[in-house]
Parts: sequence; structure tokens; C-alpha cells
Amino acid sequence: MEKIGRVKDLKRGESVSFQYQGKEGILVKTKKGKLVAYSRVCPHEGGTIVWDADINKLLCECHLSIFNVDDGTVYKYSSVFDKMDDLTPIKLEIDDKKDIYTI
Ligand code: FES
Repeated sequence: MEKIGRVKDLKRGESVSFQYQGKEGILVKTKKGKLVAYSRVCPHEGGTIVWDADINKLLCECHLSIFNVDDGTVYKYSSVFDKMDDLTPIKLEIDDKKDIYTI
């Protein structure tokens, strides 16, 4: 388990990047208050995943694929691609002190 942050440091609708197992992840507290985390590596060609609070989605700026924040599933992608895989979720655990860990 790696500590990646504290619940109180993240407001609803905000995100923060973190390192885990030598890779980069993105942690989002959704507007509903749910904590979710994903690899920042786009499943298409490795572009960087970013959080867009305005549309309440995650997106890859490389080819503008869009992903649902609640479960990382594909919301929209270019019709020139054959397919697009979902984002890779990172399991989280929150301890008694409200510290957030990847598991
Ligand atoms: S690398 Fe992300 S959509 Fe192509």
C-alpha cells in the first residue's frame, strides 16, 4: 500500500496526480464526493489522462477521448479508432485517519 493523499486535502470536483509503483495516477473526488483513481496512461497510445471538472469527465488530450469519472468507462472516442479500452482503475483504501492508500 502506498499513501497518496488525505481526504481533507481534496475538495469535491478536484483532482491530484500521484505516483504509485513507479507510475503516475490521478485521484479525483467527484462532485458527489466519491474518491476514484486511475492510471494517467491512456489505453489508446499512452497519452496523459486529465480531469475536466467542467464536463465532469476524464479526458485524454492526445486524441480527445473522454471517460466517465465514476467507473473509468469510455464515454466518447474518435470514430477513426477501431475501439477504445476503459481506463485502468486503481483500488483505494482509506484508513481511520482519512489517509488514502492505493492497494
Ligand atoms: S492516446 Fe489517448 S486518445 Fe489516443
